[in-house]
Amino acid sequence: MKEYQLYATMGAGFESVVAKELNNLGYQTQTENGRVFFKGTQADIVKTNLWLRSADRIKILLKEFKALDFDTLYNEVYDYDWAELLPVDAKFPVQGRAVKSKLHSEPDVQSIVKKAIVDKMTSEYHRRGFLPESGNEYPLDVHIYKNKARISLDTTGASLFKRGYRIEHGGAPLKENFAAGLLLLTPYNGTHPLIDPMTGSGTLAIEAALIAKNVAPGTWRKFAFDGFDWFDPQLHKDAVEEAKSQVKELEAPIWASDIDQSILEVAKLNAHNAGVLQDIRFKQVAVKDFATDLENGIIVANPPYGKRLKDRKSAEVLYQQMGEVFKPLSSFSQYYLTADPNFEKCFGKKATKKRKLFNGNLRVDFYQYWADKNDHK
Ligand SMILES: C[S@@+](CC[C@H](N)C(=O)[O-])C[C@H]1O[C@@H](n2cnc3c(N)ncnc32)[C@H](O)[C@@H]1O
Repeated sequence: MKEYQLYATMGAGFESVVAKELNNLGYQTQTENGRVFFKGTQADIVKTNLWLRSADRIKILLKEFKALDFDTLYNEVYDYDWAELLPVDAKFPVQGRAVKSKLHSEPDVQSIVKKAIVDKMTSEYHRRGFLPESGNEYPLDVHIYKNKARISLDTTGASLFKRGYRIEHGGAPLKENFAAGLLLLTPYNGTHPLIDPMTGSGTLAIEAALIAKNVAPGTWRKFAFDGFDWFDPQLHKDAVEEAKSQVKELEAPIWASDIDQSILEVAKLNAHNAGVLQDIRFKQVAVKDFATDLENGIIVANPPYGKRLKDRKSAEVLYQQMGEVFKPLSSFSQYYLTADPNFEKCFGKKATKKRKLFNGNLRVDFYQYWADKNDHK
């Protein structure tokens, strides 16, 4: 079986999380900013798309070269055997990105690469300058960083955060892969209770249930590779069957609460779609009234963050309540994501550790309070 040079992409700050996930799946990895490289066959493309929780996409690196001028870019791309990768009717959008490079105009980079591929394909398929692009999609991209060009094929399609269980609603949910990445930054593995006291549409609780039950996060969706004509379709079917046979029972409770009953209804629907409605205990309760008999668990939450001064003031009152209610739960490790730099002051305790992340473009911190005495680190 042909082995490919593959890489996973992810949001800034999650490289080590994705690398660990890949290591746990049995791959050797090399990490750079925003990418973790590994090698694998078609079966590995299926497996990583199906199982990676915190990554965005899995790509095949087709070619890499130094590109200081457009002639070189054109010639190097033209040299690739495109007819082996793309059938004559392939739709092949090309995305261009150029950073800190001599070739800095992204539209020009993109159109030169597209032209080189079209020219080569029309010559290989004897098509005289016309390609219908009416068939399946093969998403390509060119990325030039410090004059090194990389041409890749995206095997994922819509980003891996689109698991397929979420219904649309007006709130500001965490992306599924971001929520999973946060959980993977905690010691959570399903053997201890988990509580999200500001659960919103339930993303953290649902992703926790998927981790705890060993459910592959890509179980419900299709990937770009499903449309590649040289890709063995049986591999995907087999991998989903195998994944389904590995699902476990939940060991420890997952609690999800929120002050807003209407958002809890959304969370329940999402949990239902993800097949974990029975695994999560949803309850309407305000933080100030929160109480639990559970011990030695993990609290993880994404409290509101106010952009305007007035909202920020009320968010900070909530952080104070969080301090009063959650700080005494000293057998719990606690993890809070917010963009508010005053969080520790309002909560009333300095975090054991803080991790800088980006939620989309928003700079946020993941405040970590490790439990006094248990094995949660
Ligand atoms: C940023 S959202 C959480 C989004 C969630 N992580 C998701 O992925 O959908 C914050 C949530 O905190 C809830 N909330 C605000 N004040 C609260 C309070 N005093 N007690 C409990 N929940 C509260 C809001 O209703 C909202 O759903």
